[in-house]
Amino acid sequence: MVNNYSAWGIDPKKFPANGTIKAKIAFILRYGILAPSTHNSQPWDIKFIADNKIQIIIKNEKKLPFADPSGRGLAISIGTFLQNIILASRALQVECSSYRYSSAKSSLTIEFQAKPKATTNGDAVLDAIVARCSNKRAYTSAPIPDSILTATSKLAIQNNATITYIKGDKDLNAIADLYQASALRFARSNGFIKELKAWMRPNKTSHYDGMPGFVLGLNSLQDRIGRILLGRVQSFNDLTAKKYHPLIKHGPILGVLCTRADNHQAWLSAGIAYEDAAVHFASKGVSTTLLAAIIEDKNGRNSLAKKLGTKLYPQIFFRAGYPYYVGQHTPRKPLEVCIIEE
Ligand SMILES: Cc1cc2nc3c(=O)[nH]c(=O)nc-3n(C[C@H](O)[C@H](O)[C@H](O)COP(=O)(O)O)c2cc1C
Repeated sequence: MVNNYSAWGIDPKKFPANGTIKAKIAFILRYGILAPSTHNSQPWDIKFIADNKIQIIIKNEKKLPFADPSGRGLAISIGTFLQNIILASRALQVECSSYRYSSAKSSLTIEFQAKPKATTNGDAVLDAIVARCSNKRAYTSAPIPDSILTATSKLAIQNNATITYIKGDKDLNAIADLYQASALRFARSNGFIKELKAWMRPNKTSHYDGMPGFVLGLNSLQDRIGRILLGRVQSFNDLTAKKYHPLIKHGPILGVLCTRADNHQAWLSAGIAYEDAAVHFASKGVSTTLLAAIIEDKNGRNSLAKKLGTKLYPQIFFRAGYPYYVGQHTPRKPLEVCIIEE
């Protein structure tokens, strides 16, 4: 029987500390595939091109023509995948010594080197990678300590990005209004809704990808009705866009991750920086989730940059907070399915 959640059950004790570098890399890759991706499309396949070198084949066919016309989301998803690999290798006895990204060739080559000894507090990071999920439900009003916000801002800078945090009722409300205007534009695009619907999954899906309704807190019946109405009833499409207003307004905090440039390399960096921060948040029990509409909508993105008073390029907009409800994992393609043999 298909177990489309088995990827989440990694036992770090099974790391082959005395095995070959290839076996170690294969273990590390198990953390890579847990990364977030647009619509949970998991746009990656993996090929070993040497015992210590892998090529990530970026699956352009998974790009979402309506939600992600530029391919920003695809590149961010590859960045989050890479960052999980970097974090896991740092935590284990391997070093991710270099990587080369080519958007033109749709590939990312990563080279590793064995290290004599682990140098970090390995298990905590590994646990946090597994604990992270995009928790799309409401968060409590409990503030996130400044120490966590400062730490994640510093991580962003180390990853060639910045994170600006927005809090306070007035600003959160203003951004919720902006977000809603963007989300409604998408909700009125037939192509976007059709595409979204194609990635929605029933709660008991046996698919390896896509988004089951439970991530939004829907039970099986609500989920079924929702998938019937979406795309058929415009007021329902609008309602799905409007449901984000209260979530954003009540924060307790929003993050805007920006980069200096706006190209494939910058989008990759944005993905790396986001995942670094998201795993740090997860290690402290803080939930996060991305919301792309305000970035993908030109008006929304310009207004957001103006509101922040920045000349940098907003790449990722996210919510963060302590959850009322424990976040649930989405399905994953098992590693064995991602690996392409020569
Ligand atoms: C670039 C990017 C954009 C995303 N945009 C949205 C979004 O607009 N709305 C949303 O609910 N989730 C968004 N997500 C979260 C994905 O739906 C989520 O990562 C995916 O379903 C896998 O679930 P997980 O993150 O819980 O592992 C986005 C993720 C990425 C990487």
